Amino acid sequence: MINFNNLPSKLPAGKTSIFSVMSNLAREHKAIDLSQGFPNFETDVHLKELVCKAMKDGYNQYPPMRGILPLRIRIAEKIAALYDICYNFDTEILITNGATQALYCAITAFVHPGDEVIIFKPAYDSYEPDIQLAGGKPVLVELKGKDFRIDWEEVEQKITSKTRMIVINTPHNPTGTLLQRHDMWQLEKLLRCTDILLLSDEVYEHLIFDEAQHQSASKFPGLAERAIVCASFGKTFHNTGWKMGYCVAPEVLMKEIIKFHQATVFCVNHPMQRAFAEYLKNPEHYLELGGFYQQKRDKFLELMQGSKFKGTPSKGTYFQVMDYSEITEEYDVGFAKRLITEYGLASIPVSVFNIDGKDNKQLRFCFAKTDETLEKAAEILHKL
Ligand SMILES: Cc1ncc(COP(=O)(O)O)c(C=O)c1O
Repeated sequence: MINFNNLPSKLPAGKTSIFSVMSNLAREHKAIDLSQGFPNFETDVHLKELVCKAMKDGYNQYPPMRGILPLRIRIAEKIAALYDICYNFDTEILITNGATQALYCAITAFVHPGDEVIIFKPAYDSYEPDIQLAGGKPVLVELKGKDFRIDWEEVEQKITSKTRMIVINTPHNPTGTLLQRHDMWQLEKLLRCTDILLLSDEVYEHLIFDEAQHQSASKFPGLAERAIVCASFGKTFHNTGWKMGYCVAPEVLMKEIIKFHQATVFCVNHPMQRAFAEYLKNPEHYLELGGFYQQKRDKFLELMQGSKFKGTPSKGTYFQVMDYSEITEEYDVGFAKRLITEYGLASIPVSVFNIDGKDNKQLRFCFAKTDETLEKAAEILHKL
């Protein structure tokens, strides 16, 4: 027998993601699942029919490596209409296997051993392992205060000659906060006269509430010239399981990203690309999303009124962070597990996104659920 136990791990700190841990525990205990970020309602039947039609029409073989032209054209049109910038659909747009693959390709394409990459904590959990796999060093900057602001002076202090990239995420998972125009101006100012790249994770770009505006990196010339912007069809069209997304970047950057896309997946699901190309012809499909999820947020917060969970209303994404310090002093991971096993409700403990697992007694709830599920969840949470 060969002993593989001593094989050196490329990600020694890597462990099963909290999303799998909580979802598995939720399944085992038949708990209501507000943990992982996906809706429990169906994607539009019309979109599903478009996928079926594409399959029947014979779009079942490899599509072009960058993605099919009609879809790239639709994306270029959408971005031009929303953010007033023209990406070249031949050279600056890439269809990917969800935003996750776009993030991975962007990081591995540019981060060399020893390079530093600034990320803001709490942060989505794929950035750090991607950076480490590329041999880079994640440089962590903690978001400040109850409104999770970026301290731009601290960012300035953390920039060194080794800084290759800064990663931003707006609307922000897990906190549900948004970067404001003045944040983007600060960032633009900081990066002026540097060759630092910007990776902008905008997968929740259409999930914005209370008349706020999404501040895409694409809208700011000093950022767009150095930005790789990542988007997710799964988040926008209620089909996270399809794992479809895209990224856009100036040609000189995209040229490098393409090499990693080619080497990892080469191309992504053809019939789904056909379907999205057709579906995107109607902008209402994404422009109505903010209003739809705002109702869900308001419903959840209204249902939670009078409970001991407290939270500032989420401004974007489909997550609501809530403080439970009035209930218990327990570590959030333990409390989240107990919520599943004893009460039948799954959430995500926010410490898993924080620097050194810092516990602020906060849980993240996903409100992309039917009203019935939210009602049942709130009923349970009121018992605490
Ligand atoms: C901030 C953030 N970025 C990227 C992703 C991944 O998106 P996709 O499912 O399109 O790969 C997620 C999914 O939860 C996310 O929350």
